[in-house]
Amino acid sequence: MQQIKVACIFQSMDNYGNTMTKSIFLPLTILLLIISGCAAKQESVYSQLGGQSKIDEIVDNFVSEIEFDETILRYFEGSNIDRFKEKLSEQICKRTGGPCEYTGDSMEAVHTGMNITEGDFNRTVDLLINAMDKADVPHRLQNQILKVLAPTRDEMLYL
Ligand code: HEM
Repeated sequence: MQQIKVACIFQSMDNYGNTMTKSIFLPLTILLLIISGCAAKQESVYSQLGGQSKIDEIVDNFVSEIEFDETILRYFEGSNIDRFKEKLSEQICKRTGGPCEYTGDSMEAVHTGMNITEGDFNRTVDLLINAMDKADVPHRLQNQILKVLAPTRDEMLYL
């Protein structure tokens, strides 16, 4: 069906000898090919960040931020911080397009029973932003990271 449509377009171009259409059609096709080629080559957020070492730096800073925030720290009483760091790092790596597998528990399973409020969720995001600032992550990439983590919000609020 698609082939028939394309053939028809070419035929109608021949029939009417519309040189204007012909002169626009070729450059437009080339432009589309260039745009799609550029999009395919676009680097992942993981690579733009500089890979795993930058993610580990963000996660280390994030844990320090949590340690200085009484409200959020109380959620982590009794938690295994080394495990938290490892799993969070995997999660950020995977969600930013890095070569990792996430081997932790589901976001829903982990956070159920904590009854995380919207205010505390936003507060935690602020701590993550501080952590990224301290790791010199450009704001453009910070926004990309927040964008890929945002969907987790509905998997953990008020559970
Ligand atoms: C940006 C959203 C968040 C993400 C991506 C995230 C991700 C994670 C990950 C990957 C783990 C480790 C899972 C595992 O051990 O298998 C974890 C654990 C944990 N998270 Fe979150 N989290 C988020 C927000 C929050 C918030 C808002 C709170 C509380 C205010 C919180 C509190 C905790 C606690 C206390 C643990 C440790 C649980 C335990 O010791 O078993 N998280 N989170």
